[in-house]
Amino acid sequence: MKKDTITASGQSSVTVYDFGAHVTSWKNASGKEILYTSPSAKLDGSKAIRGGIPICFPQFGKKGPLRQHGFARNSFWTPDESFGSTEDGPALKYTLRDTGETRQSAWPHSFEAAYFVTLAPDGNSLTVELQVKNTNKNGEEFSFTTALHSYFCCNSQETTLSEYSGLKYEDNIESGVEKTQHGIIEFGKEVDRVYLGTKSTLSLPSANLVIEKVNMPDAVVWNPYIEKTAALSDMPDDDWKKFICIEPGRIGEPAFVKPGETWTCSLTLLSTS
Ligand code: BG6
Repeated sequence: MKKDTITASGQSSVTVYDFGAHVTSWKNASGKEILYTSPSAKLDGSKAIRGGIPICFPQFGKKGPLRQHGFARNSFWTPDESFGSTEDGPALKYTLRDTGETRQSAWPHSFEAAYFVTLAPDGNSLTVELQVKNTNKNGEEFSFTTALHSYFCCNSQETTLSEYSGLKYEDNIESGVEKTQHGIIEFGKEVDRVYLGTKSTLSLPSANLVIEKVNMPDAVVWNPYIEKTAALSDMPDDDWKKFICIEPGRIGEPAFVKPGETWTCSLTLLSTS
């Protein structure tokens, strides 16, 4: 499968596969890998890549009739070869449009999605931006849910998250039942929760990472722990210890887009180590 790499200061680099417009690696200026990608991830297009930043679109999870997390992560996006650096740093652009197959077998809408991946000149910040244009000719508005399903390298056993206390969440382990978070999140068991109305800036202290999100009010926090990891064919049994997913998204309330209009969200990750 085709992949592209951009580089900036020091040892920094970002790798993106055209399958899924999937960012699989971001090394900061000191060469530290920030994104977890499974060593047994399939890289032949037979299934979504396990790790990095899968784009969930036009459906998050099982919240609708489509396959889990939608079809964008299982589709070949088109790299824009004429796209180069921007004033914000070296960048890549990918596009995905509806096809007869997506309209007939998945989502009956015309759309044009663009995905921009930009590495800051200092190498310590990565921005991804998703734009979705409604190109329906029949005047129909469409709606979707989405998430940027980021897998971050960290020691999950030593991770606690404190920014969610008081928030409502849907607990996917109990079929989405709504609960309220009291205190910190710990990872001594499987965690699979959609937190609603999170702050626009989050952090992952165990990875020295700041997460800034725009137009994505929700965030999924996921770690499969022992049994679920054993059931994943594309992840070594012990690797649940090596990452936490924090997945900014628009999940609780879908995004609505009128014909001719474009909806945009973005995620900026800042590495402070
Ligand atoms: C998370 C979901 O976003 O993705 C979990 O909340 C799911 O329920 C996980 O298990 C991984 O999904 P997949 O389809 O990549 O195995």
